[in-house]
Amino acid sequence: MAILVTGGAGYIGSHTVVELQEAGYEVVVLDNLSNSSEKSLERVEAITGKKVKFYKADILDREALEDIFAKEDIDSCIHFAGLKAVGESVAKPWEYYNNNITGTLVLVDVMRQHGVKNIIFSSSATVYGSPAFVPITEECPKGQCTNPYGWTKSMLEQILTDLHVADPEWNIVLLRYFNPIGAHKSGTIGENPNGIPNNLMPYITQVAVGKRPELGVFGNDYDTHDGTGVRDYIHVVDLAKGHVKALSKIEEKAGLKLYNLGTGKGYSVLDIVNNFEAATGVKVPYSIKARRPGDIATCYSDASKAKEELGWVAENGIREMCEDSWRWQKNNPNGYDD
Ligand code: NAD
Ligand code: WQD
Repeated sequence: MAILVTGGAGYIGSHTVVELQEAGYEVVVLDNLSNSSEKSLERVEAITGKKVKFYKADILDREALEDIFAKEDIDSCIHFAGLKAVGESVAKPWEYYNNNITGTLVLVDVMRQHGVKNIIFSSSATVYGSPAFVPITEECPKGQCTNPYGWTKSMLEQILTDLHVADPEWNIVLLRYFNPIGAHKSGTIGENPNGIPNNLMPYITQVAVGKRPELGVFGNDYDTHDGTGVRDYIHVVDLAKGHVKALSKIEEKAGLKLYNLGTGKGYSVLDIVNNFEAATGVKVPYSIKARRPGDIATCYSDASKAKEELGWVAENGIREMCEDSWRWQKNNPNGYDD
């Protein structure tokens, strides 16, 4: 029996494939490589010493999915495949709704036709919108998303929930990630953004490596301890391990489950700059810019439900997150293009 990992060549997917293989699972990866490189999977193989069975395919391509489910003995799916750039989703809403929502609808339809009704879905803290309270528990109501990307996550949670209501044979784990950063300790796999990074840590590492002159800090007048935005940064390897733990709920046939995956701690933008400089000894010049539209002041998790029900806690602190992000960037200044 194998686990199908859609989007498995991507940032979080590739780290999860490592943890799955190291935990003894058989893995089949599907990815259209629209935002990733097959080299990530060669590096995964070098880390684990195991082959990764890979299909270059699109979740919108029903025939390709049918073929994979016919050939492979798939038991469950961990579904990472999706487009994730917030700004791009505002400019290309149709492409985001089509790729993320239609793609998932096709995937789950092919899954059920093959009797596979187990899925772990990559959701996001973005579904809380401007959160009603912090730290954010899973009881916190979902909010108004500020962009089509966020709505795809919010809507897909609803779609998967409705699927479970109609057919309780489905076992579905919705994982709401906070802000993944860091990289595998080997420094051989990591985040590989196309063009100008949207997210804070890849921007910082690209400044540190000399690819960009300075970081723009988006606003210093938020109601936070230093005026800059506060987020719950989580090491991608901890996040990956959370998926392995979440498989226990699939194995227990637990029905529909929902967990935050965060650390429970909030760091501001300037906290991250300071921690990065302390961990790496590299200066990160920055200047204060206007607030970025759609940003919120503070977002961090209450991570106790995942601890109680999955036995999962994030083990890496901010220092390791900074060190590991930097090792990846320093060793691979151009990502997988080196
Ligand atoms: P990523 O872009 O590195 O990985 C996504 C992968 O999916 C890529 O390899 C891409 O090529 C593939 N893909 C996209 N559309 C596809 C399609 N139609 N068919 C097949 N493959 C397709 O992103 P990531 O950071 O690893 O994110 C993984 C998942 O986690 C995404 O669903 C993302 O929305 C979600 N998520 C990410 C974050 C974050 O900050 N990185 C936070 C919360 C949730
Ligand atoms: C973090 C903080 C910025 C870049 C996004 C998505 C969310 C989720 C994770 C997928 C904020 C500040 C950033 C920069 C800055 N993705 N910042 N200068 O916005 O919390 O979340 O990624 O689900 O849906 O919205 O993450 O890394 O973009 O920003 O000052 O160049 O860093 O304003 O306070 P965010 P981020």
